Amino acid sequence: MTEVPPRPAPRIEVHVDAADLATSAAGELITRLEDAQARGEEPHIGLTGGSIATAVHQELGRMGPRSGVDWSRVVVWWGDERFVAPDSEDRNARSARAAFIDRLPFDPAKVHDIPSTSDAGSADDAAAAYSAELREHGAGLFEVLMLGLGPDGHVASLFPGHPQLDADDQVAVSITDSPKPPPERVTLTLAALNRSRCVWFLVNGEDKADAVAQALAAGTDLHDIPAAGVSGEAETIWFLDRGSASQL
Ligand code: 6PG
Repeated sequence: MTEVPPRPAPRIEVHVDAADLATSAAGELITRLEDAQARGEEPHIGLTGGSIATAVHQELGRMGPRSGVDWSRVVVWWGDERFVAPDSEDRNARSARAAFIDRLPFDPAKVHDIPSTSDAGSADDAAAAYSAELREHGAGLFEVLMLGLGPDGHVASLFPGHPQLDADDQVAVSITDSPKPPPERVTLTLAALNRSRCVWFLVNGEDKADAVAQALAAGTDLHDIPAAGVSGEAETIWFLDRGSASQL
């Protein structure tokens, strides 16, 4: 099981709705990237899929051009990805590109997609290749990692009761029986997700309220609610809307 040394308590931000949440998270990300670049760093960020992540990405696409961020010096990774064709509607990278990556002057060499079915023979091969690529760059040392949450408490593509939750000696692993379609995916392990400096959960909707409450309760087993096993080394923020915060 992942041994996580003591970390700062999570901060909880409750927003009036998903749109307000997305604007706030995108604005905060822009500030963090500007600050990191002002310190002379080239920040790495971790993206995820899902509806609320897409809303944040769209806000980045809208606010990004007017920001002080040098997008060509931002390095992009994914916390998880669906193992499908590169142009599939299910592909997290495709959606993030349409929402903001293709709208901003990113350096294509610094946008690290998880291999698709065009680049790898199996989800397992894709996970191995992505692990090797990530290992060359700190194995998940992200300035900010954004994550969604499923109503069952899943995070990235780590689902309750699945053996991938204990794959701590690896960086990325495959999954072929995801309860959330599509079934084949690649996900970072808890060990890799926990290397981030800042972890931001983006969660909206009343159907996630129970998972949010359990993830934040003391003593929750990460095998039941995987999100309970992820935190940032320096900061963990839960960006919630009123619905997802309704059981806190
Ligand atoms: C994915 C994910 C997944 C997602 C949550 C929340 O690729 O499906 O990365 O972990 O973030 O399921 O998704 P929603 O915001 O759509 O509920």
